[in-house]
Amino acid sequence: MQVLMVASECAPFAKTGGLADVVGALPAALAPLGIDAQVLMPAYPALFPLLPEGEEVATFEGLPGGAGRVVRVTARGVPLLLLDMPQLFDRPAGLYIDETGKDWADNPIRFGALSRAAAWICAGAIEGYAPDVLHAHDWQAALAPVYLKMDGRGQPPSVLTIHNIAFQGLCGPETLGPLGLKGDWFHPEALEYYGQIGFLKSGLVFSDRITTVSPTYAREILTPDFGMGLEGVLQNRGAALSGLLNGIDTEAWDPATDTALPSPFEARSLKRKAENRAAVCKRMGLDPDGTGPLFCVISRLTGQKGLDALLEAVPHLVNRGAQLAVLGTGAPELERGFVQAAEAFSGRVGTVIGYDETLAHLLQGGSDAILIPSRFEPCGLTQLYGLRYGTLPVVARTGGLADTVIDANAAAVAAKAATGFVFDEVSAEGIAQVIDRVVEAYAEPRQWQAMQRAAMKQPVGWERSARGYADLYASLAP
Ligand code: ADP
Ligand code: GLC
Repeated sequence: MQVLMVASECAPFAKTGGLADVVGALPAALAPLGIDAQVLMPAYPALFPLLPEGEEVATFEGLPGGAGRVVRVTARGVPLLLLDMPQLFDRPAGLYIDETGKDWADNPIRFGALSRAAAWICAGAIEGYAPDVLHAHDWQAALAPVYLKMDGRGQPPSVLTIHNIAFQGLCGPETLGPLGLKGDWFHPEALEYYGQIGFLKSGLVFSDRITTVSPTYAREILTPDFGMGLEGVLQNRGAALSGLLNGIDTEAWDPATDTALPSPFEARSLKRKAENRAAVCKRMGLDPDGTGPLFCVISRLTGQKGLDALLEAVPHLVNRGAQLAVLGTGAPELERGFVQAAEAFSGRVGTVIGYDETLAHLLQGGSDAILIPSRFEPCGLTQLYGLRYGTLPVVARTGGLADTVIDANAAAVAAKAATGFVFDEVSAEGIAQVIDRVVEAYAEPRQWQAMQRAAMKQPVGWERSARGYADLYASLAP
């Protein structure tokens, strides 16, 4: 079976968040199940060095934004189809934003082109390649199933995965023409979302199946609190929507072989984590002699992640003898807030503003717990990395966080099943209360180690969900 994945990110080549990790890891997880998944993504500057190694397999005129070509190349084991359109993708700064942090004004055209190319590839644009299923990810690829239907082809069947319903891809109706979309489809049952073209909305209407990245989030987005205006569209799709939990790349994230750690470790050599903790303290400017738990945060700094509430709880965390290491980028006021907290609580709080993959690994390896107080979280990957590294996740009870962490309540602790701490109220007070629980548990080393071992045993790889996707594809293209 051949599956064409379409996405705007793919790790390790282009990443702003968990979407990239998923798209980068899923093809390898599907391969043993007999599925050949190729990833169509834009040729951003970071991918230019790969272009000369690849083979040009298609050229297009008349994509949104002009002409383009597709270059096929396998890199780090991932079969890639790179959409080469320098006029759209040869840009400095971010994948979606310019140097000032503003979205590129032509993002709808950029990702419309990606989706248009995907549908033409499904229609045979690459000689000898006929995908059995189109699998689009997030709003940037969500027009692909729409173009497929617009071209009058029921085939191949399509799956659209929602990684985050907060990002919907909206633009004015004047872009219908440049996107090559049918004007008479501009109504609320098809492309229109309150007077605008809704990329994600349209994809949800026209794809054959919809998945999201955890069972709990699949239920949550049917409600007004989490559906961000699309709950009605999703309710209409009924059983077409399901939730499949993300996995992680257990080779890239393996505490026993991780080259970012001064002292790699396993469940039976947990003591070695102490050396990694010392390295974290050194790197983050923290006192090395702390006796309380060392918490870390590795995150986009946004409202979604509840870090404004954490910031308010920092004095309490410090009062309880704990320490905090923060790695993130995002909202300027949160960046400022955590930098100021590091100044105010020198040696107890350390902040690095930036995106640093190696440091993310070190923090997972050397911290005692990872804090994820999200207001909503489709799946979340950092708690899964935490589990694998015996860095106990402290999470809000929402989305994929609720599906992957077993709270240290009395019953779970007695059964040696607890893997972390789950709390309900994302507020300074709710976070302060869960910090108290963590501090108390940390003071009982035997209980803490039992939790670490339970966490490290939890299966967090792709095996189960890869099978879930394989079954889904098979149900569409038997
Ligand atoms: P989201 O996709 O909503 O940002 P996830 O938990 O699914 O959240 O994925 C976040 C991914 O990005 C993880 O791989 C995490 O380690 C990584 N990440 C987030 N912020 C940083 C950062 N500042 N430096 C390095 N890695 C980061
Ligand atoms: C999104 C979500 C995150 C999820 C990731 C990968 O960015 O915010 O919860 O883990 O996509 O599916």
